[in-house]
Amino acid sequence: MVTPLVDSFGRTHRDLRISITDRCNFRCTYCMPAEGLQWLPREDVLSFEEIVRIARLLVEEHGFESIRLTGGEPTVRAHLPELVAQLAALGVDLSLTTNGATLRSLARLLADAGLRRINISLDTLRRDRFVEITRRDELASVLDGIDAALEAGLSPVKINVVAMRGVNDDELVDFARFGRDTGVVVRFIEFMPLDATGEWTNGQVVTHAEIVDRIGAVFPLEPLGDVARGSAPAERFRYVDGRGEIGVIATVTQSFCASCDRVRLTAEGQLRSCLFALDHTDLRGLLRGGGTDAELSAAISRCVGEKWAGNNVGSVQFIRPSKSMSQLGG
Ligand code: GTP
Ligand code: 5AD
Ligand code: SF4
Repeated sequence: MVTPLVDSFGRTHRDLRISITDRCNFRCTYCMPAEGLQWLPREDVLSFEEIVRIARLLVEEHGFESIRLTGGEPTVRAHLPELVAQLAALGVDLSLTTNGATLRSLARLLADAGLRRINISLDTLRRDRFVEITRRDELASVLDGIDAALEAGLSPVKINVVAMRGVNDDELVDFARFGRDTGVVVRFIEFMPLDATGEWTNGQVVTHAEIVDRIGAVFPLEPLGDVARGSAPAERFRYVDGRGEIGVIATVTQSFCASCDRVRLTAEGQLRSCLFALDHTDLRGLLRGGGTDAELSAAISRCVGEKWAGNNVGSVQFIRPSKSMSQLGG
């Protein structure tokens, strides 16, 4: 019998995000310093067997319907297609968020292993700016990776653009045009205070309202509404002329916490009930200490049961988590 994980605000949890590594082959300036972060020792990172055990429990015992693999950069983890195959066998909506640089060689293998859809992070379409942002000269690989994902039949392919004032906010319309021309769904993300160096300021956030206004002035947009959105973070808009859609993820100015159905598992096996949670439940300790499925389920239910109403990003009460985006899995 399935026991849904319902929190004290009545939100039923059905979506698991799994960070499978904290490492990354890029060094985006808003995410980590040039020298990288202090990576987890390999023995601290959950094995595929441990990841699949937790995923299976959530799907089979608690009715989870979707799983997204994230990082760091998930494609730097060796044998990723094997993990995808094992998770795909659970019959869930399985997706991946990646920087896209290795997809030319991986996209087909991932699709064959059972991956259904993919989100690719890309903050600029200009080579010099790409090098400045990511500290890597890999724009061509990412663009080729997007093509490879489309060719492999992953659908939809979404592009995540973190909109940052003074960095790439002059490219909003270029990205809209890119989406309209290629058939990918471009999503614009408000910059969140989860950078490793703590340099985020409110002034760098390009707001949902500004994004929709500036794109809509060139390519008129209309909202797709809450039904099309479901519990997803992105509010969806379609072009009035029928040439596709965009999404806007507005964590800072328009919280979507009321419909949140997510839990997160970090690479070292911490269960977190919110991206901004200040505490976690140590599932690795339970897994490696001989914990039973019933004990794991009880710990997971407790973690979800204690989930807060939502983050306070943008307000004076906001407290930054001690971990950054690449350590939390986005
Ligand atoms: P789909 O809707 O399934 O396509 O994916 P997604 O948008 O949930 O995942 P993705 O990894 O592409 O994340 C896009 C952006 O949304 C990133 O900046 C994430 O940090 C952010 N995001 C994802 N889930 C949450 C969440 O629960 N809360 C907040 N505040 N942001 C989230
Ligand atoms: N704010 C918003 N989005 C971010 N991402 C990384 N750091 C931030 C941030 N501080 C995005 C990445 C990726 C997704 C998982 O999160 O670009 O697309
Ligand atoms: Fe790597 Fe993503 Fe962080 Fe860039 S934003 S350094 S691609 S984890």
